[in-house]
Amino acid sequence: MAEEDRVTEKIRWGIIGTGDIAKKFASGLSMLSDAELVAIASRTRKTADAFGDSFHVPKRHSNYQSLTQDPDVDVIYVSTPHNLHKENTLMCLQAGKAVLCEKPFAINVNETMEVIRVARERKLFLMEAMWTRFFPLMTRLREIIAAKIIGEVRMLMADFGYRSENQDFWVFNPNFGGGGLLDVGVYPISFSHQIFGIPNQITGIAHLHKGVDEQSAAILGYEGGKIAIIASAITTETPQAAHLLGTKGRIHIHAPWWKPETLTLAVNGKDEVMHIPFQGNGYNYEADEVARCLSEGKTESDTMPLDETLSIMKTMDTIRRQWKLKYPME
Ligand SMILES: NC(=O)c1ccc[n+]([C@@H]2O[C@H](COP(=O)([O-])OP(=O)(O)OC[C@H]3O[C@@H](n4cnc5c(N)ncnc54)[C@H](OP(=O)(O)O)[C@@H]3O)[C@@H](O)[C@H]2O)c1
Repeated sequence: MAEEDRVTEKIRWGIIGTGDIAKKFASGLSMLSDAELVAIASRTRKTADAFGDSFHVPKRHSNYQSLTQDPDVDVIYVSTPHNLHKENTLMCLQAGKAVLCEKPFAINVNETMEVIRVARERKLFLMEAMWTRFFPLMTRLREIIAAKIIGEVRMLMADFGYRSENQDFWVFNPNFGGGGLLDVGVYPISFSHQIFGIPNQITGIAHLHKGVDEQSAAILGYEGGKIAIIASAITTETPQAAHLLGTKGRIHIHAPWWKPETLTLAVNGKDEVMHIPFQGNGYNYEADEVARCLSEGKTESDTMPLDETLSIMKTMDTIRRQWKLKYPME
């Protein structure tokens, strides 16, 4: 159901954390006519007020707990560092709020299972903010694959690596659940899970430095010999393209594939370039999915279901086990 077809009251959003992604998400929300950003929470009053002033947010909370108790909030977007996702999401669920939690959903499988269990027990909506899945191009891609236009998909290649010069950023710190896999490797893994399901073979290597993975590559194997080749990095910029190779053709999702607008469909020796643009800054689509689910009384998204979030986390745990990378809190 498209946003304009829904007859619903406005969804009242709160945001926990005032960092980079919180700002982008707030801009995305402003695109939606049925969303209202009513409250922001920061660890400090000053930051909450600064964010509130920038994004015209009426209610500002100087701690996260206070926002979870706010009766004017329906759903909370958790945008804190990785190590806090479990704690922050549980706090919201225990206060009876629906939650959209940033990727990676948690640090590991145990944390993921705990959070999912509480959401299901309380019958509350919960979704991992894997925004890539909700772009119009990804919807079209799923249709192309279902129609078998490239035949059976046999291989997938996708990468997401960037180079950060700021070693003080928490992404370089194991105490925050840093490293390339959890930060950006989760995107190609999530994509592979969506296309192929759960892998039955996983082989990966990484370059570890000061307790986090700076760059890594993995090969995932599936029933019938399907293969996904993925890479991620926080110190190396990679092409950030994705390829799906089928028995009758190929699809190239142009960079950046995780925020896609263009794909090339190659079938019968002919290349067709398809431009499928998105509106806003892209975060509006995942917020719209949350609004759609809430208006239909659903507690999970069919496009990003919790069981899939759990299987993605299992894959990441297996990869990290092979590298012998354990975070201090594990
Ligand atoms: N979907 C995407 O495109 C995308 C892009 C980038 C990041 N992310 C994800 O979004 C989450 C946040 O990333 P970000 O880039 O927005 O990070 P960030 O700019 O560092 O912001 C994180 C926010 O979390 C809060 N926080 C609580 N405890 C903290 C601590 N000990 N140290 C630092 N910040 C703390 C802070 O807000 P207060 O000071 O207000 O409490 C801070 O502003 C991560 O899960 C990341 O993987 C997603």
